[in-house]
Amino acid sequence: MCGIIGCVGARDTVPDLIEGLRRLEYRGYDSAGIAVLNGDGVGRRRVKGKIRDLAEEVRRHPITGTCGIGHTRWATHGRPSEDNAHPHTDCGGTIALVHNGIVENYWSLKEKLKAEGHVFRTETDTEVIVHLVEKHFRGSLEEALRAAVRELEGAFAVACVSSRDPGKIVAARNGPPAVIGFGEGETFLSSDITPLLHHTRRVAYMDDGEIAVLTPDGARFATFAGAPVAKDAETLDWEPAMVEKRGFAHFMAKEIFEQADVVRDTLKSRVSLENGRVFLDDTGLAPDAFREADRVVLIACGTSYHAGLVGKYLLETLARVPVDVEYASELRSRDFVMDRRTLVLGISQSGETADTLAALRLARAKARAVLAVTNNANSSMARAADGVLDLHAGPEIGVAATKTFVGQMAALALFALAFSQARGALNEADSLALVQELQRIPLKMDRVLAGAAAIERAARRYLACEHYLFLGRWINFPIALEGALKLKEISYTHAEGYAGGEMKHGPIALIDEGMTTLAVVPRDRVYEKMLSNIAEVQARGGRILAVAFDGDAKASAAAEETFTIPETHDLFTPFLTVLPLQLFAYHSAAAKGLDVDQPRNLAKSVTVE
Ligand code: AGP
Repeated sequence: MCGIIGCVGARDTVPDLIEGLRRLEYRGYDSAGIAVLNGDGVGRRRVKGKIRDLAEEVRRHPITGTCGIGHTRWATHGRPSEDNAHPHTDCGGTIALVHNGIVENYWSLKEKLKAEGHVFRTETDTEVIVHLVEKHFRGSLEEALRAAVRELEGAFAVACVSSRDPGKIVAARNGPPAVIGFGEGETFLSSDITPLLHHTRRVAYMDDGEIAVLTPDGARFATFAGAPVAKDAETLDWEPAMVEKRGFAHFMAKEIFEQADVVRDTLKSRVSLENGRVFLDDTGLAPDAFREADRVVLIACGTSYHAGLVGKYLLETLARVPVDVEYASELRSRDFVMDRRTLVLGISQSGETADTLAALRLARAKARAVLAVTNNANSSMARAADGVLDLHAGPEIGVAATKTFVGQMAALALFALAFSQARGALNEADSLALVQELQRIPLKMDRVLAGAAAIERAARRYLACEHYLFLGRWINFPIALEGALKLKEISYTHAEGYAGGEMKHGPIALIDEGMTTLAVVPRDRVYEKMLSNIAEVQARGGRILAVAFDGDAKASAAAEETFTIPETHDLFTPFLTVLPLQLFAYHSAAAKGLDVDQPRNLAKSVTVE
């Protein structure tokens, strides 16, 4: 979703703003712009399109300034256009403002402001904010923004500059994230840390209900009511190199190949290879929470929801506990029943997905405890939860989640093991065997990834195929869903994920030579049933691709292509089966020349409902 960048210092900020926006591109956007204070007033450049178009616009019509803000817009109110691109300015052209979020009461505010004489030039909800700031301006941008945000309903992260109160950026947060980076004689603002890493690793996170005033010397914070807030800078442990492609054509490819390390890092220091014990002390969750819970609810969206489904099968099998997996957006609308014996996990790589955050907050009021399973230990969800299960996956830039999905499955496997151990549902011998096999998973993942070239060749051979049915059963049913989602979102190919057992209840009608079935068929407890599904597809002339264990002659006999994986414990097959599906989606999209890392219409973190 929208990205905000800001920079105030002694140097010309324009190159840093453009570079910062480039590093925010992965969040998803359709237009972009910057505004700087240039001594005479506000200089502004905006485009519909990519950051390279904005850079070209700035090259043709240069502006400079030591204090500026920038924005990538993902359209909600008003179509993508140069006029609707941020920054927006007030009637006098002395204030420029960028916004991430939605102003829910913008219509009534707009009517009121228009009646007061303000002239609107865009179709956006955001424009009301800059006119409100103008209305309340009495010489202090901070006070004007404070008065303006008190009138807003909805979610917002906002940053503004004014030629009438120069040398500073004023920002406010109520919902979408905003982080401040402290450089040497320059201070930065950003929607996330990726643009900051190249300038500084000292940061402070804004909290909801706060205003920040950034100057070259640092930042000060206060509440919307005006009370000062003391904040210490934190030091990031991410390196700048982590947000580079390192020779891969796309971030997604790099991230797929990092997945074995993600599992290694997620397991690190959390398991004992002596006795199979799992330690989740770093989550901050009280040990009693496990013993006192008799139900687990997993809340998530998209790929994280699929990880949650895998978590359900793990928890049911290992801990023998009832588990519900819920779409966050649906749970919010329901009269959902949970009580003080329910343990809730909010699963989100970003920790900022609006629906998951809202559902997690609702759950916190009712449940025994709420744990955020996230790749961002400083995210809104991490702050809203009782504890954090950190994925340690490093930055994921590709919009299509890959390594964070695998990190989530690893974290949920640990959670299931820890839960089972706390409840006495798993003996030491079984625990040890499972933990030892989990430790072997990264090596096996590397073996699957070593076969990537064959999957690329298959993806190219199937480029003309327009319809896919992904089938899996039991713990690989979520993998079928995830494989279909990956193919849809980056290659724009129609794909449906189904539980194998559901095929005869409808989707079988779709089978013909134009429909390819991708069957996930490891030799597990549902293997024979999956083979029957494959036979049914074959009998109706459908083409078949399979993901199966090495040396599985039965699965390979039915399939045109088989992507093989090493054998592993039934419960851990998803770590391996998902890899060929990710690679197949990646190579399908790359071979079509599509924008793999920034697929159309998608945003990396969906910070509006
Ligand atoms: C994944 O490839 C998708 N881009 C999307 O479904 C994503 O998983 C979803 O938006 C949830 O995001 P989160 O994990 O940051 O909450």
